[in-house]
Amino acid sequence: MKDIDKNKLSADDWDELNNPRPQGCEFDRVVEEAISRRGFMGGVLAFGSGAAVMGTGTLLSTTSAEAQARSRFAFTPIPIHTDATVHVPDGYRWAPVVRWGDPLFSNAAEFDPEKGHDAETAQYVFGENTDGMWLYSIDGHEVIAVNSEYANREINLPASGGVPQNADDVLMLQRIQGVTVMEVAPKSGGGYEVVVDSPFNRRIDHNTPMRFAGPAAGHDLLKTDADPEGMNPLGTINNCGSGPTPWGTYLTCEENFNGYFGATDAGTELPEDYARYGIVAEGWGYDYHRFDDRFDFAKNPAEPRRQGWVTEIDPSDPNSTPVKRTALGRIKHENAAVALAPDGRVVVYMGDDERGEYLYKYLSNGVYSPGGPTDHLLDDGQLFVARFHADGTGEWLPLTPETTGMGEAEILIFTRMAASAAGGTTMDRPEWVQVNPIAVEGYASLTNNKNRGVKPNAGGDDTSVNGPNPREANNYGQIVRWFPANDDHATAAFRWDLYVMAGNPVVAEGAYKGSANVNEGNMFNSPDGMMFDSAGLIWIQTDGDDSNEGEFEGMGNNQMLAGDPVSGRIERFLTGPTGAEVTGLCWSVDRKTMFVGIQHPGGSFPDGEGLPRSTLIAVWREDGGLVG
Ligand code: FEO
Ligand code: CA
Ligand code: CA
Repeated sequence: MKDIDKNKLSADDWDELNNPRPQGCEFDRVVEEAISRRGFMGGVLAFGSGAAVMGTGTLLSTTSAEAQARSRFAFTPIPIHTDATVHVPDGYRWAPVVRWGDPLFSNAAEFDPEKGHDAETAQYVFGENTDGMWLYSIDGHEVIAVNSEYANREINLPASGGVPQNADDVLMLQRIQGVTVMEVAPKSGGGYEVVVDSPFNRRIDHNTPMRFAGPAAGHDLLKTDADPEGMNPLGTINNCGSGPTPWGTYLTCEENFNGYFGATDAGTELPEDYARYGIVAEGWGYDYHRFDDRFDFAKNPAEPRRQGWVTEIDPSDPNSTPVKRTALGRIKHENAAVALAPDGRVVVYMGDDERGEYLYKYLSNGVYSPGGPTDHLLDDGQLFVARFHADGTGEWLPLTPETTGMGEAEILIFTRMAASAAGGTTMDRPEWVQVNPIAVEGYASLTNNKNRGVKPNAGGDDTSVNGPNPREANNYGQIVRWFPANDDHATAAFRWDLYVMAGNPVVAEGAYKGSANVNEGNMFNSPDGMMFDSAGLIWIQTDGDDSNEGEFEGMGNNQMLAGDPVSGRIERFLTGPTGAEVTGLCWSVDRKTMFVGIQHPGGSFPDGEGLPRSTLIAVWREDGGLVG
């Protein structure tokens, strides 16, 4: 452990280091179905989008599909880049909107380009490491809610090499993560800027008072000395992706919460449920537990169970209390994609981003009625886990006391164990999930999984290759999509296919070359963020290996591509700076500007000097046209 720099490990790698799994799986060969499925993907029109978009139930001809695809890409695709800035197609422009440390309020001290900011200033500035986001139109104001997923400790605490030295250091870190709500406005000449001191501006961080709602609220497993009712947790942690609701709220998703907890007493006995979620005495290096007792599980063993939820925020009311919706389960939540069934019931698709974890669906019992009450919709419903079959069919399995052998609240608090018991399909790290606005289909990016076919997941579940996860030691990732039976997201049965298997058609072999819609000109690895635009194009963002070497040669920096669900065509639109992940996407009300997140850039992005700063950028067309 001594020789490993914790700051350079991914969340997954850190979990695995602390919880080494036995080499238990058989080293299966890629199954025959997977290979044949690659041919199948060349015929991406065979079912699903083609039929749904055309509304005919018949297949599109290749010629008409290509013509349609051409007309839908309003940009000239760009090549890869390996430099320290952002690139967009000819005819498009980009500019920063807000950088980590920029003021939301005029009382914020100026950002120090060499040292960052202190705990006092951190309350009044844009957070670090932008991720999921959404823009709301509220009484004529454009208000963005945007996650700040985690903190680069070495960058935030340069004097101590990223190691917190006191309670103030910890407080600073706690304050620059979480969620920012801020008003933005167009700038003359293009782009957007923050409306400093807008009454909508708000920081929600690791200490913000919240409330629990849903079936697990108030359960003994969630009670602490400071909150004996188990109803009033503090803070939302490791806010990764997100999702808007039809009723104007923002769902922020708590992903790698485990790394923020530790124990000052290294001999503390860990509760049984900690192992599945990767909670260990040492923590990841945030060291909150050394200076803030709430994060010391030797003193507060229930506290880690108060994170890992989907939290609902009302961006229209800066005084509103965020609500942790326990009915949506406790996992390492990536994001939340909300759809409505034809009868008005609310469906929320969610992924658990860890190697060999699962895809989930929530279905409300109540129905959404515009203008009607909504507070119950995410509290009263059924949670399901996805099971995929190799023949292209699948079903959502309900997580109930009968299917799991667990009580209702335990199913929601220990959802991973419930999904294992019910027999879900282990997936290659489910990242973002999205729903096509013009066809009844869901998409999930399965970013990569070097352990596929190599070792079981943290619960000991088999992770041999299976239908939608067909490649062992999968370093490239894929996007699976499903087509609910009867064109109804509420139904249990679905058909599925792979929209794309990322790969390298130049240097790799066999299935690792990728699917038929991957070529030398558009290749990428590790799909992660995804968002549909209003025309039904799916925008794909990557968080992968940007070494541009070896099996990743020719892929360049992380990037954003646009994909046509109908033709399968995928083209590169944007490349990020070296070291960065491109994550988070939303649009201005007039859809003439897109907002894109640049997380953990290297170098000195975007200023060319000083600390690298995670940045929310605006992208627009020089001719003022629509961008989504
Ligand atoms: Fe925060 Fe799984 O990405
Ligand atoms: Ca992600
Ligand atoms: Ca990722």
